[in-house]
Amino acid sequence: MKFFGFARSKISQTEFKEQIMRNLTCRYTPDHSCGDFIEKFLENCQYCSGKYDSKDGFIDLDSLLRKNSARLFYLALPPEIFPTVTKYIGLAGLLKSTSWTRVVIEKPFGRDRASSDDLNSELLKELTEDQIYRIDHYLGKEMVQNIMVLRFANQIFKPLWNSKYIRCVEIDWQESIGVEGRGGYFDNYGIIRDVVQNHLLQLLTLIAMDEPESLNADVIRNQKLKVLHDIQTIKVEDIILGQYNTYTDDPQIPDDSTTETFANIKLKIDNDEWRDVPFVIRAGKALDSKNSEIRILFRRPESNIFCNMEECPPANELIIRIQPDEGIHFNIVSKVPGLKMQFQEKDLDLSYKSAFVDTVIPEAYESLLLDVINGEKALFIRNDELEAAWDIFTPALKEIEKNKIKPKIYTFGSKGPDRICKKE
Ligand code: BG6
Repeated sequence: MKFFGFARSKISQTEFKEQIMRNLTCRYTPDHSCGDFIEKFLENCQYCSGKYDSKDGFIDLDSLLRKNSARLFYLALPPEIFPTVTKYIGLAGLLKSTSWTRVVIEKPFGRDRASSDDLNSELLKELTEDQIYRIDHYLGKEMVQNIMVLRFANQIFKPLWNSKYIRCVEIDWQESIGVEGRGGYFDNYGIIRDVVQNHLLQLLTLIAMDEPESLNADVIRNQKLKVLHDIQTIKVEDIILGQYNTYTDDPQIPDDSTTETFANIKLKIDNDEWRDVPFVIRAGKALDSKNSEIRILFRRPESNIFCNMEECPPANELIIRIQPDEGIHFNIVSKVPGLKMQFQEKDLDLSYKSAFVDTVIPEAYESLLLDVINGEKALFIRNDELEAAWDIFTPALKEIEKNKIKPKIYTFGSKGPDRICKKE
């Protein structure tokens, strides 16, 4: 396998390899030592410089590739130039290998339904849908890949996974940092477009979808698409917007910016399994911790012989912790050992650190790029999923922009507004 870097900068092969070396690690060797791995890897790396909007540089790149080799293009570029780059890659003949050619692109896939459709139709001039791999790196995270296993390989959860037993689902995403040098990009997008419409909505579909009949990529994505179609278009009144107090101190951000850095959104799924169960997505930058987790709050038993005059034992709660400290926690009610009948909520704790000692948890991108090489598309966003995801958010996003709805200001490092899924 050969790796080629292509960009506008005119740097030497040595400088290119130095840049790669600065970021390489050997996490999979037992003692994390690299030995001669890095040298061997660098022998297969080569740099080619050229412009993105002319075929000359790409023709040079083509001359370096083996004829009819399988080709994976990873466009680590601003999305505005995806169509230009694919056009010139095509004109330079790089897409004409008799083996496979696949192109990986990163979000943002547009700002709304219309711009996403435009981007897509531009890409489809040069590529087929089959060749396009839309990455959402949350789908490559270990714990996210575990959601289907948890739900469908454990009989205990299957009959309980619906509105009869589940009262509320909360997808909570927090970062303790602000926009940190990405103010220019972020101010044009905001937290809803940056993480909610993509990463967190994908988590929601994995929680709410029906069991697929097989692990075939399209069978899984059809089930996700069904849920996306059942989610009601969000109304502005179901969204709480926030902005951290020092956001506009960033020189790239206008002083009067109303872009949201926090959003709390209540989604409703209009189908028999989930009608009446609020799905709440809560996402914020500059909060008091970095944490991503899904909380499934179960209902209390309809009748409970342990309820006394003052209180009932608490309801169960399942927490899927995506990061940091991947794990699954299930809160159950237990009798406190002793002579009295007292209850306490205790955690059945499946923390990965203790459950899978000495196991390296791959980075999301390791897993996803391997899938691209293997032509496995289950963890990549299909075009119809993207369209449905934009349909859910576009009307509210437009209304927020048109009416310049002001977000609530919260202090950098604070907890942010309250949870909506409260424990009973
Ligand atoms: C990116 C967003 O997609 O995901 C960033 O653009 C965010 O704003 C990042 O910080 C979070 O990724 P992770 O893997 O660190 O949770």
